[in-house]
Amino acid sequence: MDAIECIMTRRSVRNYLDVPVEWDKIGTILDTGRFAPSSGNIQDVKFVVVKDEGSRKAIADACLRQYWMSKAPIHIVVCSEVKKSIGFYGIRGERLYSIQNCAASIENMMLAANSLGLGTCWVGAFDENVVSRVLGIPDYIRPQAIITIGYYHEAPKPPQRFPLTTVAFLEKYGNRVGDSAAVMRDYSLITERYVKQGQKATGNAAGKAADFIGQKGQSIAEKLKKKFKK
Ligand SMILES: Cc1cc2nc3c(=O)[nH]c(=O)nc-3n(C[C@H](O)[C@H](O)[C@H](O)COP(=O)(O)O)c2cc1C
Repeated sequence: MDAIECIMTRRSVRNYLDVPVEWDKIGTILDTGRFAPSSGNIQDVKFVVVKDEGSRKAIADACLRQYWMSKAPIHIVVCSEVKKSIGFYGIRGERLYSIQNCAASIENMMLAANSLGLGTCWVGAFDENVVSRVLGIPDYIRPQAIITIGYYHEAPKPPQRFPLTTVAFLEKYGNRVGDSAAVMRDYSLITERYVKQGQKATGNAAGKAADFIGQKGQSIAEKLKKKFKK
């Protein structure tokens, strides 16, 4: 599976099989989290791997009672060493970089899991104090997200996404591009489009010709029938 396919096929999975996840796979997933970019490479992201069933149930409860979570055999709680981000970058470090650093690690790990045949879900709705208490997270560390990981029956259907023209603009904010191939001068795409239009038109013409010949043939046959009856 290449990177693009991995990104496009990732789904939020909330229904897990009662099958344990191999430790070497968890190690690989954590490594991809560790290799994510971070502001100034400060690497302020920490991971708590939770396998214990009691802790997973307590976490699910702290996540506004999202009990489906406890079925996932592994939770990775992604935390930020906020003091470090503040030390390096002040308010911007606290309010922006620390969050972006965690998000980069989270997405890396979810994609790695997908490439290893595992389902994940990013869970952000939880009581930080309760999760910290359950896992013994000190007060200078902030749990930012929980990733559930496990094997699953089948991937959920892809959710709807806004079209590119709604979310991407050219040169200036709000400048929508209707025909991106024309703007980007992507002649291969434009030619492909013309070929398809041509094929459709030829197909239509061939269909009409066949109908016409069929109708003519039928009326000649009717005339011949009448003649022979006489
Ligand atoms: C910051 C963030 C918080 C989220 N929190 C939750 C959550 O608490 N519970 C949940 O079931 N899904 C949660 N999700 C998953 C989203 O619901 C999901 O990504 C979205 O519906 C799109 O579906 P997809 O991941 O299959 O593309 C969260 C996702 C993000 C990025």
